[in-house]
Amino acid sequence: MDQYETVFKQVLEKIETHHRWFSECLPLVASENITSSEVRAALSSDFGHRYAEGWPGERVYAGCKYIDEVELIAIDLAKKLLGAEFVDVRPISGVTANLAVYSALSSAGDTLMALSIPNGGHISMGKRDFGGTAGLVHNLDVEYFAFDKNIMNIDIDATKKRLEKLGKKPRIAMFGASLFLFPHPVRELADVIKENGGVVCYDAAHVIGLIAGGAFQDPLREGADVLTFSTHKTLFGPQGGAIATNGKYVEEIKQAVFPGVTSNHHLHSVAGKALAFAEYLRFGKEYAHQVTRNAKALAQRLSELGLQVLGENVGFTKSHQVALDVTRFGDGTQIERKLELCNIIVNRQLIPGDLQAGRHYTNPGGIRLGVSELTRLGMKESEMIEVANLIYEGITKEDPGPVASKVRELRKGFQLVEYSFSRGRAYVTS
Ligand SMILES: Cc1ncc(COP(=O)(O)O)c(C=O)c1O
Repeated sequence: MDQYETVFKQVLEKIETHHRWFSECLPLVASENITSSEVRAALSSDFGHRYAEGWPGERVYAGCKYIDEVELIAIDLAKKLLGAEFVDVRPISGVTANLAVYSALSSAGDTLMALSIPNGGHISMGKRDFGGTAGLVHNLDVEYFAFDKNIMNIDIDATKKRLEKLGKKPRIAMFGASLFLFPHPVRELADVIKENGGVVCYDAAHVIGLIAGGAFQDPLREGADVLTFSTHKTLFGPQGGAIATNGKYVEEIKQAVFPGVTSNHHLHSVAGKALAFAEYLRFGKEYAHQVTRNAKALAQRLSELGLQVLGENVGFTKSHQVALDVTRFGDGTQIERKLELCNIIVNRQLIPGDLQAGRHYTNPGGIRLGVSELTRLGMKESEMIEVANLIYEGITKEDPGPVASKVRELRKGFQLVEYSFSRGRAYVTS
């Protein structure tokens, strides 16, 4: 065996080791979920070797007969799932979907209104100074929604006042967030944004599964013109993105996606999306409601244990997420690392007030937890109590060993991908 074959085998072994490790962990990163074995099979299919630039039926390449049929099924299922008139399933990620929308609907130098990052905004909505996609790539000038941290939501009146004072009219108002606990006031602000010539967009990267399952808000019925989303956070898809509208801006968006921000879109991912949308139409309603019940149960128990859960005044959460202020114990990065030693996988999070307190993304004050994956593994409210207890022990105890053992024990009973047709094993290669 030469050095290249050796390293080749090492990589394969590391993938297997990762799978074994994750089957013994509590994966609580809010932007992650797991896919069924069929979606994983689509990802390793021949679709992933092919090219099909353009729209089904208008491709720039031959060999797309079945690829086109699958993409049309994906579009049709996504429209059903969201009650949308138009869906483009080609964006290869949530960021690409946002970039396509910025490109389709605004010009460089226009103003985007979004949440600041410590208040929950995503880097794709960020200013040029922070390397944010909106500023850096599309040269948008970013203004912020006013935010009320007592209710962990956009402050409606203060935002209206800010819009009056601004002197420039936002071309795009982007609702939605990365730290996203409560439905945003789309209905309350849509008219004032549109009166000022703005387009109401909603980045549902995180909450699209909850929206599709009827367990959150319904932006397209509340005044949003455009919805962008990731297909893998609360949905059951592979990593990818999509854009939906009520029939508005169709040609502009299609052209911005291709040839604007993608040439070949990832066809294996489109096949995975089609399968995942079918799974979600069948199981999504039950799943989404279990997700929100689980998040609430987790938050409630963490608070009872004395941890500082954000949004306490307003019932902690209505989404898949729970956010903790961990400054009593160090910073979010230290806690993220400490919990990883306990096989509890979470991510550090900037929280409101961090920048004023001199904290930034390497040492933020919070951690963010998401229950999408544990719910898909079949966990319910009673397991959330155990998960909260383990998080508490992981944060407060010195020795991670005993906590990691308890995590392994708990995970023994949760190894299948539930809310799927085949209920296959999670964390296996194919
Ligand atoms: C609000 C929001 N938008 C967009 C994205 C980017 O999505 P993706 O990772 O699919 O590019 C994220 C990622 O977590 C997000 O939180």
